[in-house]
Amino acid sequence: MIFLGIETSCDETAVGIVSKENSEEKILSNIVSSQWVHKRYAGVLPELASRAHIQLIVPVFKTALEVAKIGYSEIDGIAVTYAPGLVGALLVGLSFAKAVSISINKPFVGVNHLEGHVFAIFLSHPEIELPFICLIISGGHTELVLVKDRCSYEVLGSTIDDACGEAFDKVARMLGYSYPGGAFIEKLSESGKHSIKFPLPNVAKLDFSFSGLKTAVLYFLKENPTYPKEDVACSFQNVVVDFLLKKINQAVEQLGIRQVGVAGGVAINRYLQRRFFEYGTLYNIKFYFPRPELCMDNGAMIALAGLERYRRFGPSPLSLSPIARVRL
Ligand code: KG4
Ligand code: ZN
Repeated sequence: MIFLGIETSCDETAVGIVSKENSEEKILSNIVSSQWVHKRYAGVLPELASRAHIQLIVPVFKTALEVAKIGYSEIDGIAVTYAPGLVGALLVGLSFAKAVSISINKPFVGVNHLEGHVFAIFLSHPEIELPFICLIISGGHTELVLVKDRCSYEVLGSTIDDACGEAFDKVARMLGYSYPGGAFIEKLSESGKHSIKFPLPNVAKLDFSFSGLKTAVLYFLKENPTYPKEDVACSFQNVVVDFLLKKINQAVEQLGIRQVGVAGGVAINRYLQRRFFEYGTLYNIKFYFPRPELCMDNGAMIALAGLERYRRFGPSPLSLSPIARVRL
C-alpha cells in the first residue's frame, strides 16, 4: 500500500510518500519546503503562510513523486492534515488533497497534525512497544499523550499557555535572533554557562506552562542588558529540560509505563536528547526520538498516519473542513 501525505498546517509545505508492505514501512520520499517569508517577523504570518503554500504545493508535490519514482496510478490514498493549525494554511493542503483524490479516484483521509507527530516515532522506531507515553513539543503544541495503540490516544496533559517551541522562539527573539529561534538557542547554549536560576514552572497535574519562564527571561534581560547571551540561552534551555523531565517523571510514575516517545520540532535539540537519555539511564526509562528530519513538520508522518487511519476506519468525507484547534 502506498500513501501520499500533505502537510500545510503552519509554515512548512510538505509532501511525503510512504509504503507499507506486510509490516514493513518505508519512506519513499519526504519533501519539505520551509517558508522563508516569516524570517523578518516575530512568528508565522497566517496570510503569508497561505500564499506561500499556494505557490509551493505543486512543485513540492511533483518533486515528492519524482523522488519516490512513482506515478499517480501507484498511489493508494491521499492523506492530509486537516487540524489543528492556521485555517488558511490548512485550507490549501486540504483543497489540494481533495482535488488530487478526485482526479486519481483514490481515497482521501484527514489526519490530526499531532497524530502525525506520533507517527514520526513509528516511522523511526517500528520496534517501539505499545502502550507508550508520548511528549509532543513543537512550535504550536506541547502535549503529553498516552499512545494506547496506533490511532488510539488519551491526552494526559497540555500547555496552559505558550507552547514549548514558542518559548524557544520568543526567547531567541529577545536575544536578537530571527524566527524560528530554537536552533539559535541550542547553538548559543553550547558556549554558555548555566549561571542564572530561572524559576522552574509550577503547574498542576500533567499540564505545562512556559509563559512565566518567558517573562522571567524578559525581565532578566531588562535588568541585565549586557549579560552574555550564551548564558541566558543556556540557563533558559536548562530549565526547560528540567521542567519537561519533571513532567515525564510524573507521568511515568502515575502510569507505570517506562517507554517515552518524544516528537515535534523541539525534539531535534541535541542537548535535550542527551539529558533525556542520561535521565533514562538513571531511572530506567527508554526514550525514543524520531530521526531529525521527522521531528520537524513533514509529509511522511502524515502519510503513514493516514494509511493506518484508512486501514482502520476507511476514508474521510470530502466535506472535511479545517479546524484551528482540536484535541488529539
Ligand atoms: O514541529 P515543528 O516543525 O512545527 C510545529 O508543529 O510547530 O516545530 C517547530 C518548532 C519551532 O518552535 C522551532 O523553534 C523549534 O521547533 N525547534 C527547536 C530546535 N529546532 C527547531 N527548538 C529547540 N531546539 C532546536 N534545535
Ligand atoms: Zn508540528
